[in-house]
Amino acid sequence: MLENGLVLWFTGLSGAGKTTTARTLLESFRAAGRKAELLDGDEMRTTISKGLGFSHEDRMENIKRIVYISKLLSRNGIIVLVSAITPYREMRDYARSELPGYVEVFVDCPLEECERRDVKGLYAKARQSQLPHFTGLSDAYEMPEHPDLVIRTMEADVQSNVAAIINELAAKTGGKRP
Ligand code: ADX
Repeated sequence: MLENGLVLWFTGLSGAGKTTTARTLLESFRAAGRKAELLDGDEMRTTISKGLGFSHEDRMENIKRIVYISKLLSRNGIIVLVSAITPYREMRDYARSELPGYVEVFVDCPLEECERRDVKGLYAKARQSQLPHFTGLSDAYEMPEHPDLVIRTMEADVQSNVAAIINELAAKTGGKRP
């Protein structure tokens, strides 16, 4: 798997814990001397995807751009971590088909809990109809049907989830740590 690159793609609702988990994992890869990069949806949307909105078409375009950058990095031996909602199956199928070494990590957290956390205050806005097409409320989040890994952020803390991901990756690569 590693010879073909490694792209850990974190999908899940806003506030599920994708970026927090990915950042901690990134630090752990770097501490082990590995080259790794995190492509974060929020950051992408202020840079390479600036100007794109949340229509089906714009979201697809956003993901296609992230896939493209992921491909360039991963084929040069850089471990890529992506944290983006990636709400549609079509997007995840596209990412899987384009990226050798694609590993889908479903960051599972119930909508009610994400809304309770409301880290960025966006669920409240969406409830007041100030944010149309909001994932989980007025726009679909299609549950992953065949994720490679699942972490549950309501049931386990960040460190345990990161440790579980590293262990499962090692198991997938025949005991070799990425
Ligand atoms: S994706 O659908 O194209 O994969 P992405 O992860 O890049 O989404 O961006 C989602 C981020 O944009 C959320 O974390 C949130 O901060 C912000 N956001 C703003 N409007 C919306 C919306 N309508 N739906 C979801 N997220 C939104």
